[in-house]
Amino acid sequence: MTATLEATDLRKQFAIGRPAIDGVSFAVPAGEIVVLLGPSGCGKTTTLRCVAGLEHPTGGEIAIGGKVVSQPERGILVPPRARDLGMVFQSYAVWPHMTVRQNVVYPLKHRKISRTDASKKVDEVLALVGLSEYADRSVVALSGGQMQRVALARSMVYRPQLLLLDEPLSNLDAKLRLRLRDDLRVILKQTGMTALYVTHDQAEAVVLGDRIGVMRDGKLLQIGSPDEIYNRPADLFVANFTGATNELAGTLIARNGQFGTVDFGGGRCGEAALLQQLNPGDKVRIALRPENIAIGRQDGANSYTAGIVDRRYQGTQTVYDIDLFGHRLEALELGTAARHAIGVETPVCLPREACWAYRDQGPLSYD
Ligand SMILES: Nc1ncnc2c1ncn2[C@@H]1O[C@H](COP(=O)(O)OP(=O)(O)O)[C@@H](O)[C@H]1O
Ligand SMILES: [Mg+2]
Repeated sequence: MTATLEATDLRKQFAIGRPAIDGVSFAVPAGEIVVLLGPSGCGKTTTLRCVAGLEHPTGGEIAIGGKVVSQPERGILVPPRARDLGMVFQSYAVWPHMTVRQNVVYPLKHRKISRTDASKKVDEVLALVGLSEYADRSVVALSGGQMQRVALARSMVYRPQLLLLDEPLSNLDAKLRLRLRDDLRVILKQTGMTALYVTHDQAEAVVLGDRIGVMRDGKLLQIGSPDEIYNRPADLFVANFTGATNELAGTLIARNGQFGTVDFGGGRCGEAALLQQLNPGDKVRIALRPENIAIGRQDGANSYTAGIVDRRYQGTQTVYDIDLFGHRLEALELGTAARHAIGVETPVCLPREACWAYRDQGPLSYD
């Protein structure tokens, strides 16, 4: 049976330092994949380990399938074994002296399952992860990606009610990582399992997650569909971490429904979408994706002239550093031709719906 996971006001304070998790609440509905995304040290692993019961939270509540498994205030702490969950880690946690089949059947040995049933379950799960032909090979003869498939099969073979995955693709080389990333979503969706997946890789989060929660410094900043996270980031950090890496500072001088006019100084103004409650006079920062800057054309609001400072040709796209009235921005041009030369002045357009205004709380820092 697949189950709902609910974390409410979860807290973890280690003996030293600031809280590793600081009031995190989220739910993973049965059968959904929720990805917690954030930079190293933001509390992803600690959250996952609290759900697993490997770490003892200092506050809040965790419920799996409607049953409270952790609530320090009332002294409730269900041990990991009794939580009925599967885990996959970054390192390939497979037993090297065993074959693929022996690794995968292992968790069934501690459960009352007949040999025939066990064998059937192993065959099914190996087919699911694409390892049927490798069943009788030693795991040491496998590639990293295949070993991680073994670990995945072993965590799923007893059909736990919840699967926890902690950066399972980070140790794989780029090509295998992309392949397993895409397969993983198909596999998880085929089983209909509830999954909590943590990663620092935004591309992984988008491909895998039904919903993505963005974390920073032990806090969950926003949780929503990939579309919401990508197109309506709640704050500058979420915008920046998911790829809107350009920033322009200014002052909001007028509001016009969902948009506002921003004064960038030096007589330059522009229009921006207001994703937070902002008022005229507020200092703002605009976040903008490199791929949303149109180079070489002017088209309605926010049309300017920019200088091309540098360009990096990457084969299927070109990244330009442009100078826009004294601000350095990055712009991306798709296609195999780099059409703009360094040193040239060129028209650019920053579509106003792609310019997101947030309250200015100083420059972003990642520590
Ligand atoms: N056992 C521990 N003792 C003390 N501090 C810890 C321990 N484990 C993690 N931390 C701290 O908690 C914070 C969150 O760590 P972690 O959950 O591992 O982050 P992430 O997985 O997002 O990289 C970090 O500041 C880390 O140093
Ligand atoms: Mg971690």
